[in-house]
Amino acid sequence: TRTPVNVTVTGAAGQIGYALLFRIASGQLLGADVPVKLNLLEIPQGLKAAEGTAMELDDCAFPLLQGIDITDDPNVAFDGANVALLVGARPRTKGMERGDLLEANGGIFKPQGKAINDHAADDIKVLVVGNPANTNALIAQAAAPDVPAERFTAMTRLDHNRALSQLSKKTGVPVSEITKLTIWGNHSATQYPDVFHAEVAGKNAAEAVNDEQWLAETFIPTVAKRGAAIIEARGASSAASAANAAIDHVFTWVNGTPAGDWTSAGVVSDGSYGVPEGLISSFPVTAKDGKFEIVQGLEINDFSRARIDASVKELEEEREAVRGLGLI
Ligand code: NAI
Repeated sequence: TRTPVNVTVTGAAGQIGYALLFRIASGQLLGADVPVKLNLLEIPQGLKAAEGTAMELDDCAFPLLQGIDITDDPNVAFDGANVALLVGARPRTKGMERGDLLEANGGIFKPQGKAINDHAADDIKVLVVGNPANTNALIAQAAAPDVPAERFTAMTRLDHNRALSQLSKKTGVPVSEITKLTIWGNHSATQYPDVFHAEVAGKNAAEAVNDEQWLAETFIPTVAKRGAAIIEARGASSAASAANAAIDHVFTWVNGTPAGDWTSAGVVSDGSYGVPEGLISSFPVTAKDGKFEIVQGLEINDFSRARIDASVKELEEEREAVRGLGLI
């Protein structure tokens, strides 16, 4: 039998955790032949509910699931971790300023980054889901100087999937025939979903749509504000679709992108496309041999340039703010 892959999930008792853990244990995160061991991290108030979820995981009798540990100690949770999904975060509550939010999350992601640095396996791959995801990923990465920076990523795959679905509806072409969409920048309302390099059934997407007003006034805001629309409709934030995107992100990272396509992920910038080095920003990326690579050489038109710059500016401001707070 193969040794199991250690997967650590934080915020395991939350709503994304509930939608995520069963899919990991069934083999959808890494592959249908890869055994997994789950390490669940919660805060003390969340431990009992996490134990309840673990009971249900037991009751599924998943053949690939080789054990579940539950703890409130990051040093234990990340010990030997090969994959870490950082889902638990401090949500913005009423009257909270952005600085307060960044500071509260720094108190979570800095110690978790250090615990990853000190205890995770050499091949650790980290996906940050908890918001503000890009800057939380930056805080964790800065606290883990012994781990290659590119192992820290932030999730924009949900935005990518939302954009795919909206473009499919507009063009009448199934998502399976849409390629090369890109989410640029921050996982926030400033994100930029870019169709100018995308193809729908082999045709350039912007030409197929041929409606710049729809792009600017319908498509982009629908994708960027989808999270709020879900809350409005469901009375709770997106959970199953977020868990699905986390599964997609890690599966792609480990198993690669198909030839002739790419996906979107928040990765450490190497300065490509004018995004300042070191920021964790969403880019078009391919994955091969367990590594993401930023797609190079795309032409960026004026429409796209302005929107990428605006979102990257927001990321720079968040970086300045966490620097000022001594979090990086
Ligand atoms: P939730 O509130 O249902 O669950 C969060 C869980 O995290 C709670 O059980 C809480 O006890 C736990 N937690 C808090 N601090 C922790 C810590 N220091 N260590 C371990 N666990 C901790 O929230 P939900 O709906 O599951 O969402 C989780 C996060 O994901 C939120 O920050 C949300 O904004 C974000 N999100 C990100 C998306 C993306 O596309 N990047 C999409 C949807 C949600």
